[in-house]
Amino acid sequence: MNKSNLMAQLIACSLILGLVRAVTLELKVGNSTCIKAILSASFSITYNTTNTSTTVQVDLPDSTTVDAGSSSCGNDGRPVLLVGVFGPGHTLGLFFSNNGSMYSVDMLSLQYNLSDRSLFPFANSSDVVTVITESVGMWAWLNTTYRCVSPVSVPVGGAIVTFSEVRMEAYMTQEDLSPVESVCTADQAGTTAAPTTASPTATPVPTPGPQGLPERGNYSVTKGNDTCLMARMGLQLNITYTSQSQNNTVQKVVNIHPNLTVSSGTCGPSISTLVLDHEGNTNISFTFTLNTQSNKYHLSGLMLVAYWPDMREPVSVSNSNLTYLASSLGRSYSCNSEQRLIIAEAFSINTFRLQVQPFAVTSNQFATAEECQMDQDQMLIPIVVGAALSGLVLVVLIAYLIGRKRSNAGYQTI
Ligand SMILES: *[C@@H]1O[C@H](CO)[C@@H](O)[C@H](O)[C@H]1NC(C)=O
Ligand SMILES: *[C@@H]1O[C@H](CO)[C@@H](O)[C@H](O)[C@H]1NC(C)=O
Ligand SMILES: *[C@@H]1O[C@H](CO)[C@@H](O)[C@H](O)[C@H]1NC(C)=O
Ligand SMILES: *[C@@H]1O[C@H](CO)[C@@H](O)[C@H](O)[C@H]1NC(C)=O
Ligand SMILES: *[C@@H]1O[C@H](CO)[C@@H](O)[C@H](O)[C@H]1NC(C)=O
Ligand SMILES: *[C@@H]1O[C@H](CO)[C@@H](O)[C@H](O)[C@H]1NC(C)=O
Ligand SMILES: *[C@@H]1O[C@H](CO)[C@@H](O)[C@H](O)[C@H]1NC(C)=O
Ligand SMILES: *[C@@H]1O[C@H](CO)[C@@H](O)[C@H](O)[C@H]1NC(C)=O
Ligand SMILES: *[C@@H]1O[C@H](CO)[C@@H](O)[C@H](O)[C@H]1NC(C)=O
Ligand SMILES: *[C@@H]1O[C@H](CO)[C@@H](O)[C@H](O)[C@H]1NC(C)=O
Ligand SMILES: *[C@@H]1O[C@H](CO)[C@@H](O)[C@H](O)[C@H]1NC(C)=O
Ligand SMILES: *[C@@H]1O[C@H](CO)[C@@H](O)[C@H](O)[C@H]1NC(C)=O
Repeated sequence: MNKSNLMAQLIACSLILGLVRAVTLELKVGNSTCIKAILSASFSITYNTTNTSTTVQVDLPDSTTVDAGSSSCGNDGRPVLLVGVFGPGHTLGLFFSNNGSMYSVDMLSLQYNLSDRSLFPFANSSDVVTVITESVGMWAWLNTTYRCVSPVSVPVGGAIVTFSEVRMEAYMTQEDLSPVESVCTADQAGTTAAPTTASPTATPVPTPGPQGLPERGNYSVTKGNDTCLMARMGLQLNITYTSQSQNNTVQKVVNIHPNLTVSSGTCGPSISTLVLDHEGNTNISFTFTLNTQSNKYHLSGLMLVAYWPDMREPVSVSNSNLTYLASSLGRSYSCNSEQRLIIAEAFSINTFRLQVQPFAVTSNQFATAEECQMDQDQMLIPIVVGAALSGLVLVVLIAYLIGRKRSNAGYQTI
């Protein structure tokens, strides 16, 4: 590919909107722009130091430029890709695809160079680390600008990328961003402050009052044309976090609304993952593991990344040592009763009317369910009560018969 033909350009500007710093990345082929992105991004990266591990917060700096060599408008058979580069070999990559009516960010990559001691002091490694994710949840209609002012966090490997103030378009046919916008669900939900008030002191949007039971949603993952993972459940999150407005630790119970949730994931021979993106600011990833020896599976891991308008910082919780929702290969797992899945001290999930099958789904249908203990116990109650009642009837009957026999005997002696 002819690099000189491809002109990459950067216009960086600091928007004076609180502390938000937007970077403009523009990729051109010839003199027409194919991708333009105006965005702010920050990265939460955990790395090892000599004696412990540390998490740093890195902002995508103004000095970020488009890496013309690795970016591509897709006209040379390579994927459509925008790569921003900053510092000594740190990069952020956005891979795009389109299906004729919509385009989306298919994959997000983050590369960081631990040799950079200004960002990673005391790192005990000099590696260049690359992490990627395929669940990004950014999509828009073709010929429109993707707009997402609200902060949206995306877990990428062990790092978290938080985007905000995003306006971007790929597969552009015009000189500049289309005036027509595809607004992300986080912005539609109106859960965030308007752009002009996006300063740290912005008035927090009040969270809804006490909630009823969560609505039951249908979520699935497909592989090729086939559904390979199915889940039907009502979900309620119970999170403890530091509130910006109350300057204090608060505990919130929040229902997941199925129609504000986008599901994605992957299916493998022994590990399947379901990722739910709620309102663009809450990302829950369920990992199921199949033991191929015993043909039993269970929920082995769960990761939550949430960045709600009132949170002082993104909340990221994960536990990869869980043993919930256990069932057998070829069966689904079902639990109508409420179940509380404790993930960490500050985070639990309540499930309602749950049925899930992470492996061996055939023809888009749940296989026979294995019921949870609680449901079995509830089934047992009518049986026990019934048995007790028939026992009682029997006792009364026997007592009556004995009593009658005695009185008969009594009459005979007279
Ligand atoms: C695009 O570039 C070509 C030369 O490479 C030039 O002739 C043409 O006028 C340019 N078009 C615009 C709209 O600037
Ligand atoms: C930190 O070191 C541990 C133990 O060697 C390793 O398992 C882990 O992957 C390292 N973490 C990072 C972020 O490099
Ligand atoms: C880790 O090492 C640094 C310097 O190498 C030292 O200042 C710090 O006290 C050590 N921390 C622990 C917990 O040992
Ligand atoms: C880096 O530190 C981690 C613990 O923080 C340790 O497990 C690992 O072995 C260290 N790696 C190297 C290359 O020293
Ligand atoms: C990583 O940083 C070191 C030191 O700054 C530099 O020598 C090296 O070339 C960088 N690696 C990459 C892949 O850019
Ligand atoms: C393109 O993808 C979107 C979202 O995945 C979907 O809703 C739409 O039906 C697809 N369109 C075509 C023509 O496949
Ligand atoms: C986008 O715009 C171009 C040029 O105006 C047009 O050729 C194309 O059909 C449009 N695509 C869609 C999906 O509307
Ligand atoms: C998916 O379905 C389409 C049409 O129904 C078919 O042409 C295609 O081969 C299928 N792909 C796979 C991987 O089964
Ligand atoms: C939320 O979690 C706390 C403890 O972390 C617990 O006391 C409380 O009962 C939970 N609330 C719900 C509705 O699950
Ligand atoms: C938040 O609380 C801490 C201690 O509880 C206090 O030092 C700080 O000034 C408070 N910040 C604001 C903005 O009220
Ligand atoms: C979800 O969709 C239903 C109907 O499609 C609607 O009644 C309901 O208000 C929606 N819920 C939310 C939270 O938008
Ligand atoms: C995972 O759980 C088991 C049993 O509950 C425990 O023995 C083990 O230490 C845990 N491992 C980690 C890494 O927490």
